[in-house]
Parts: sequence; structure tokens; C-alpha cells
Amino acid sequence: MKATRMHARLALDRLLAEFPQLVPLEGTVNGGAEDLIEWDGIAVSAHWVEHLWRVADFYRRVDSKTVKSVLEIGPGLGFSTLAHIAFNPHLKTVVNVDIVPVLYLATQFLKSTGCARVVDYREIHSAGGIKQSLGDNGQVTIFQLPPWEMPNIDIEFDLFLNAASMQEMTEPIIENYIRHVNRLVRGYCFLLMGDPDIPADGDAVPARYIRELLKTHFPHRTKITDGWSEIYERSSYVPQLLCSGSA
Ligand SMILES: C[S@@+](CC[C@H](N)C(=O)[O-])C[C@H]1O[C@@H](n2cnc3c(N)ncnc32)[C@H](O)[C@@H]1O
Repeated sequence: MKATRMHARLALDRLLAEFPQLVPLEGTVNGGAEDLIEWDGIAVSAHWVEHLWRVADFYRRVDSKTVKSVLEIGPGLGFSTLAHIAFNPHLKTVVNVDIVPVLYLATQFLKSTGCARVVDYREIHSAGGIKQSLGDNGQVTIFQLPPWEMPNIDIEFDLFLNAASMQEMTEPIIENYIRHVNRLVRGYCFLLMGDPDIPADGDAVPARYIRELLKTHFPHRTKITDGWSEIYERSSYVPQLLCSGSA
């Protein structure tokens, strides 16, 4: 077994000891993943275990009952969406926003897992945007949204997620996204990015700039130094939990 898979196996065992209610999801290895490990007779991707760990840091601090809707910007293939589904039986709606080529691949991947209803761009566009009624069918609904449809979101969210993607964007793009986050999100932000207390290297937009844009709506910040940071240490990323005044 390669080191990454062994590491994931150990991390998963530790996670299951803490959250015995977690159940494996089918489909995280779809598309021919080679990093598979076994969990209760189901093949799961070792890469997904890293996302489960990140999400564990959040649900260790926030009651899953308070999180029914999630907005994520730059989710990539959507492994974090699958991790939230595995952790949170109360989850109803996820909106993922990414650039088009990634969004298309992620849409096909998420559909292939069969874990949720996946609504693609064409369906959202012909419905004129995202309205509460679209996602109200009893199972988790994942909306796959291109960036230009953000003004057409007409629902509120309990949680905003961003992991390692804003550093790929310019300041005007970030500012526009955060304007929508401040408009739509009422509860929490869970961020994995550079440390706002440390100046960024090179051309990356400093995390403290993003912190400033979120500060008015999400004044309370906790920097998380246990959990994911301990297991999957990346020197340049720290998880942060921000809470709105009302959360
Ligand atoms: C390093 S990956 C991180 C993916 C995922 N969040 C994770 O932690 O594994 C960066 C992500 O940001 C997305 N991204 C880059 N520029 C973007 C933009 N302007 N709008 C939305 N997503 C963007 C990329 O397509 C990619 O999915």
C-alpha cells in the first residue's frame, strides 16, 4: 500500500473512532481513481479522506442541525460536497461555483456517484436561477453554477466554504464573490487559505484582504490549529471558522 493510502487509512480510522455515525459513500473512486482504500466493503478515494478531515474540523464546532445549505466557491470536483453529505443528515442544498471546464467535469462526476440530485447549468438557466422551490424534493440537491449566474441566486445559506481557491483569483474577482457571500450567507464561513496574520508570498492575494472583506458580516474568527492541520499539515494553509453576528 502506498504511503498516501496508508496515511489515509490511519486518518480514516482515527476519524471513525471520533464520528462512528459516518458512513462511506459510493462513487468517490468513479472515473478510475487509483488511490482507493476500503471502508466497510466500499472502495473510497484516499483523497476524499482529506476532505472528511477538513469537514470534521467544522462539525466538531458547529451542530450539523444548523447547517442545511452550503455555498462553495472553487470546489474543484466536489469532494467537500460529498464529505458534507457523509457528515450531515440535515443538509438539503449545496451550490458549487467554479470555472466552466472544472464545473462540467465536477457535474458529471457528482452525477455518477448517485449521492444526490445534481442540477446542471442548463436546468438552472432555464429556471431563471436558483429558487428555494427548485431544491425542495427531500434529498440533497447540488446546484452546479457558473460564476455569471451568481446574481440569480435567490436563497440564503447557512455556510460558505472556500478552500485553496481564492489565491488563484484577482482582487476584483474576489471582491465580487465576497459581495455575494455577504448578501447570501447568514451563519458561518469555513475557510482554508493562507494565514491572515502572515503576509502572503509572491503574487497571491493576501488572506488578510479576504478577511477584511468578510469582517463586517462575520466578525467572530477562530483559527483552527488542531484536527486537519495536525493530520494534513500544509505550512501555507490554516483552517478558519468565521461566525456572523447572529450565528
Ligand atoms: C487548488 S483548487 C482547490 C479545489 C478544492 N477547493 C480543494 O481544496 O481541493 C482551486 C479551485 O479554484 C477554482 N477557481 C479558480 N479560479 C476561479 C474563479 N474565478 N471562480 C471560481 N473558481 C475558481 C479552480 O477551478 C479549482 O477548482
